[in-house]
Amino acid sequence: MPSVTDRYDPLDPEVLRDPYPVLAELRQREPVFWHVGMDSWALTRYADSVRVLRDHATFARDPRRTGGTVPEPSLSVQTLDPPQQSQVRSLFMTALRAQDLTAIEERARRLVLERLDVLAGGGPFDVVAELAVPLSVAVVADLLGVEPPPYGEFAAVSDAIMRSMDGGLNPALVEPGRIARQQLSDLVDSWFAASARPGLLARVRQAAAPGGDAAARLYVKNTARVMFQGGYSTMAAAVGNAVHTLLIHPGVLDRLRDRALLATGVDELVRFDGPVQGTTRTAVRACRIGGVEIAAGQKVVTLFAAANRDPAAFARADELVLDRTPNPHLGYGWGPHSCIGTTVAQAGLRALVAALSDHRAHLAAADDGVRRRTATMRAFDTLPAALLHR
Ligand code: HEM
Repeated sequence: MPSVTDRYDPLDPEVLRDPYPVLAELRQREPVFWHVGMDSWALTRYADSVRVLRDHATFARDPRRTGGTVPEPSLSVQTLDPPQQSQVRSLFMTALRAQDLTAIEERARRLVLERLDVLAGGGPFDVVAELAVPLSVAVVADLLGVEPPPYGEFAAVSDAIMRSMDGGLNPALVEPGRIARQQLSDLVDSWFAASARPGLLARVRQAAAPGGDAAARLYVKNTARVMFQGGYSTMAAAVGNAVHTLLIHPGVLDRLRDRALLATGVDELVRFDGPVQGTTRTAVRACRIGGVEIAAGQKVVTLFAAANRDPAAFARADELVLDRTPNPHLGYGWGPHSCIGTTVAQAGLRALVAALSDHRAHLAAADDGVRRRTATMRAFDTLPAALLHR
């Protein structure tokens, strides 16, 4: 029988269906293990992951700190490290805080209700195409202050980029990802060239104006692209996972009609089965994690999905606890690279759950759905459901 570390294949159909049993076994038996496919150390304990994500001096995100290169289009808040990253990160955080998230949430809720009205009584539909994609495109476009691109076309470009995040496991995905990134860059350039609508882009536009610092201009444009595409794709995956969790836990949607539970409830949905399965850093110097020697230059993957079910960090870790407080899960990351869009994502998820629980029709599963064959992002390709009369 192969060891548990050899059995951990994130693309195995059984692991895609339910990764939590094998992650729990790994956390118990070998919490820090070498994964050949990922060419990295993999961490399954909450405390080890937090330590790595906090300590950016030892664990680099920017590949240039460990002798690698970064193509220009990829230089953004996501690939730079402090102190270089700090300025662009705070520019976007400040611009985001100036947006009216209550209004964005209300528009999103109305959009979901309108779609539910159309879908109710019409037979099974795909939650991904009919709810997750439109809601997520609309929310990030609203935040940035741009015209939403056509849903289907944008979803295809974004999917190519999302799949290329698994380029380490499958190099054939890298080139389509590069082409899609270029298409998206052209779209973002057109937004910067167009006249300003109110929104986040209008706030950061000045920093990307011609004549300013060329490096800053590049970082701002690339970060705007990451906000749009990364925000959209993660949000869409989160919506699919959240709806799936609601479908397989009867009664939860009804309980979430209690608005006091909504805010903690949507955070718990992300802890319980979030979209981002992990992230990678590279050790800039030799160190030890959980008694294991990590050599300088070796990669370390923090497996959020494992950390978020770690019983050392969460009581009743495998249960959905709607009023869990505090809930310091890693679904939005941790430390200097944690999610910039957390409050927007929370608003979008509240809008979704509020609309689903308020609607006169009752949401029911129509099929198990098809999990996407991606390791970094946990998502559905399709998730059939039906809206039945109550
Ligand atoms: C439920 C939806 C979302 C989840 C679960 C999520 C999760 C995450 C996670 C785990 C990270 C950290 C990755 C790492 O450390 O490598 C991250 C980073 C990021 N997220 Fe999100 N995200 C969501 C939605 C959004 C939205 C809607 C936006 C923007 C509108 C956004 C913008 C970003 C950006 C810009 C970063 C990079 C931050 C940095 O590297 O400094 N995210 N997100």
